[in-house]
Amino acid sequence: MKLIWMSDLHFEAEGLVLGHDPRKRLQAAVDFVAEHHAEAAACLITGDLVETGTVNNYNALQEFLNELPMPVLPLTGNHDDRTALREVLPLPEGAMAGFVQYRADFGDLAVLCLDTLVPGEGAGVLCPDRMGWLQAELEALGGRPAIAAMHHPPMKLGLPMLDPDNLQNGEDLLELLAGYPNVLHLLAGHVHRPCSGTVRGIPFTTAKSVLYQAPPPRPAWDWDSFQPAAEAPALTVLEYGRNGLTLQQCQFCDYARGGPAA
Ligand SMILES: [Fe+2]
Repeated sequence: MKLIWMSDLHFEAEGLVLGHDPRKRLQAAVDFVAEHHAEAAACLITGDLVETGTVNNYNALQEFLNELPMPVLPLTGNHDDRTALREVLPLPEGAMAGFVQYRADFGDLAVLCLDTLVPGEGAGVLCPDRMGWLQAELEALGGRPAIAAMHHPPMKLGLPMLDPDNLQNGEDLLELLAGYPNVLHLLAGHVHRPCSGTVRGIPFTTAKSVLYQAPPPRPAWDWDSFQPAAEAPALTVLEYGRNGLTLQQCQFCDYARGGPAA
């Protein structure tokens, strides 16, 4: 079973974002998936679907996403507007009322999509309602394998400018997840950098952005000197089978396409 994972599209119906063209970059990603991975069961997008959370932007985004041969599993990031997103993009049945939080099943694998958005804040939180929903879902799985997907990483990644804006109650989430050894992997966006490791024994991966990348921590940078890294974007292909889970990061276009020089 194959899933596509994209993150941080920062889509805008018009104009550039930090010198990058979100429509060119997303079109390249969609074309790559349609050509090489059309049989994937779904495309998970871990938040920051749009740069500015307007219904107009979500409508324009949906026209691009409609070209994907598989359904989309959208999540909220700090740039998203929960209400506008829900107005435009369909969510799987059984989604929590008022949130973009739900479970999607692919055979025996469950993907738990978490809504970490706090409107108006860069950092994220999983409130008691959303945490309670997650605990109930984990119990209901009865040991079936699961992936937890969210925008804000619940752990520090050694990225001094980005770590302060991660999931503020990440420790609580990790404490909960660590009690369920059937949680195979944790996926997060937000940092626009490819990081992987383990936390509390849980393997994790963070995604490159479909649009622009954050620089590595060295050479040191701050928000005054911030410039997107001159790195090509990527998406990830997840394959789940008898022997476990594989994540392949795939570059879907070169740096120039949609980049500042384009
Ligand atoms: Fe982002």
